[in-house]
Amino acid sequence: MIEVKHIKKTFGDKTIIDDVSVKMDSGKCNLIIGSSGSGKTVFMKCLVGLFVPDAGEILYHGQDFIQMNGPEKKEIRKQIGMLFQGSALFDSLTVEKNVMFPLNMFTTDSYRQKLKRVNEVLDRVNLEGANKKFPAELSGGMKKRVGIARAIVLNPQYLFCDEPNSGLDPLTSLVIDRLIKEITLEYKITTVVNTHDMNSVMEIGDHIIYMHQGLKEWEGTNKEIIFSKNDKLNEFIFASEFLKDAKDMRMLEMSGKIDNDRNMDDIMNNDAPFDVSQ
Ligand SMILES: Nc1ncnc2c1ncn2[C@@H]1O[C@H](COP(=O)(O)OP(=O)(O)O)[C@@H](O)[C@H]1O
Ligand SMILES: [Mg+2]
Repeated sequence: MIEVKHIKKTFGDKTIIDDVSVKMDSGKCNLIIGSSGSGKTVFMKCLVGLFVPDAGEILYHGQDFIQMNGPEKKEIRKQIGMLFQGSALFDSLTVEKNVMFPLNMFTTDSYRQKLKRVNEVLDRVNLEGANKKFPAELSGGMKKRVGIARAIVLNPQYLFCDEPNSGLDPLTSLVIDRLIKEITLEYKITTVVNTHDMNSVMEIGDHIIYMHQGLKEWEGTNKEIIFSKNDKLNEFIFASEFLKDAKDMRMLEMSGKIDNDRNMDDIMNNDAPFDVSQ
C-alpha cells in the first residue's frame, strides 16, 4: 500500500499538485486520470522520488519516503517497477539486455540466474524467444510488453505506468491493460497508472483518482464513475455526445437491475452498490 498525505508541488509560483491525499492498495490498479497538463506525471514523479514535493508525506510500508536517507530510498526503489511513456527502451540493446538492465544494477546474481529471470518475465508477457531482437524490430505493443517485463523483473511490490497506452491502437491497448491488471493481481502489486484512456478506466479502474488543476477532484471505482454527479469529471470522461449517450444507456441498464426500494443516492453512498453481473 502507498499512502499519500497532503502532497504539494510547485514550480516557481505555479502550484501543480495541491494538497493531494490518497491511499493506494496492493492488488489494485489505481488509475490517475485527468486532462493533459493536470499534473499526473508530476504526481507520479513525486511518488517515485524523481521530484521532491514541497510538502506532505509519501508512505511506503508506513514509512515516509521523503524523509528516508539514501540507502533506505534505494531499498524502496528496488521494490518499484516503472513503465515509462513510450517504453524508454535502450535502442542499442537487445530485448534480453534491456530486461536484464535492472538486475545488473540492483543484484549481484550470476549471469545464469539473471538470464533465467529474464526468460521468466519474457514468458510472462508472451514474448518468449524475443531475446535477441532489437527495439527497432518490435511493434508498439511488443515494446510495451518488453517495458513491462523490465518493470517487473525485480519482482516489484509497486508498479508505476505513465500512459501505458499512448501510441497504441485500441485492441493492443486492451491487451496491455489486461496484462497490467493480471500482473497486479497475480503478484499483489500496488499499481499506479496514469491515463486519459476511457477504455482503460472501464477495463482496469479498481480505484480511479481524477485530477483537475492539481486537485483531487473525485475518486471512486469504474462502477461508480457511471453514476458520478461530478460535472467536471463527467465533462472530462464523457466528453463526446456518443459517450454521454453511452453513459445514459448504461445508467438505465444498471438501474433496471436495482431493487425498487433502493434509490440512486443509496447506491452512491454504498461502497459495493450491487453486482452488475446479475
Ligand atoms: N520540470 C518542470 N518544470 C516546470 N513545470 C513543469 C515541469 N514538469 C511539469 N511541469 C508543469 O506541470 C503541469 C502538469 O504537467 P504534467 O504532470 O506533465 O501533466 P499531465 O501528465 O497530467 O499531462 C504542466 O503545466 C507542466 O507544464
Ligand atoms: Mg503526463
